[in-house]
Amino acid sequence: MSALPAVAAAEPQSVTALFQPTRVGAIPVTNRIVMAPLTRNRAVGGNVPSPLAATYYAQRAGAGLLIAEATQICPEGQGYIATPGIHSPQQIAGWKSVTQAVHAAGGRIVLQLWHVGRISHTSLQPGGVAPVAPSAIAARAKTFTAEGFVDVSTPRALRLDEIPALIENYRIAALNAIAAGFDGVEVHAANGYLIDQFLRDGSNHREDAYGGSIENRTRLLAEVAAAVAAAVGADRVGVRLSPVSSFNDVADRQPQALFERAVERLDALGIAYVHVIEGETGGRRDLPFDFGALRRRFRGSWIVNNGYDRRSAEAAIAADDADLVAFGRLFIANPDLVRRLREDAPLNALDAGTLYGGDAHGYTDYPVLG
Ligand code: PHB
Repeated sequence: MSALPAVAAAEPQSVTALFQPTRVGAIPVTNRIVMAPLTRNRAVGGNVPSPLAATYYAQRAGAGLLIAEATQICPEGQGYIATPGIHSPQQIAGWKSVTQAVHAAGGRIVLQLWHVGRISHTSLQPGGVAPVAPSAIAARAKTFTAEGFVDVSTPRALRLDEIPALIENYRIAALNAIAAGFDGVEVHAANGYLIDQFLRDGSNHREDAYGGSIENRTRLLAEVAAAVAAAVGADRVGVRLSPVSSFNDVADRQPQALFERAVERLDALGIAYVHVIEGETGGRRDLPFDFGALRRRFRGSWIVNNGYDRRSAEAAIAADDADLVAFGRLFIANPDLVRRLREDAPLNALDAGTLYGGDAHGYTDYPVLG
């Protein structure tokens, strides 16, 4: 019998846990690298995903999991020009081309379900009416319309008797996403959009069952997640949260207690994952908040996001602070990001001028390694 080597040869860098397969609920993934949802404003007539979207997402199918861009669940859920929806047959057909291309390339893809609430403009709303929100409080925020960059409109408060139909819109949108071939859905509860507006006491001044206490302000999130989970299976549902981000003018006096309870309620539903933006959206990470306290309350997969690179992503997974790590801007500029990270290859620079709107340039023409 030959002697075993006393010390195993050092593992090549390429096989750290970041590059190892795992599961996210029911979804098997080839690595722990996630493409974050990214608004690109290239939808075509009727807010149908661009024909180029199939190429764009398939180019990035090396990610363990792709989270497709924020997609409105209903016409009232739109807040920016040329964002796609998932409420019409044409939109479902458009998304089908995307999911088929991603699956053919060996990837997995979920759809982010979006309702912007008050982050909208009357010109984007059916009938030109005010957007809806928990309370009639305007956000100090801007949006992009056919007339350019404008202040968002003052919303009207949703009536209590309108909330069941709102939840039903999420449920139908989730079913539409599965019909379009998605592997699952992510409920967008971050970044100051509708569900986040209900969560935070700065934007939610309601005095009914959906406002006031933390229990009441987390109710819409829990009811939407429950309805979506019942429709498509909890093991195909994720939720995105941004507990300390002030993006789109949201704030809360007690974010730690609020988001601990939010995560407890999501855990009780047995959903596949929580996806958390650590710090300001696309900005500073060093805000006081105990993200570990959230993670300890959740038994599914924990996806982190915000300015990670290969080393910090590997460190987060090694420390068990995360199961997977989402990358946003790096994925826009580097379709083959997984390979580049694994090989420590140089990264393409982002062209900020082609982020929002436009054609193939800055969308499907970033170069890959030879
Ligand atoms: C944006 O369009 O700027 C946008 C959309 C969704 C987000 C964040 C930003 O979650």
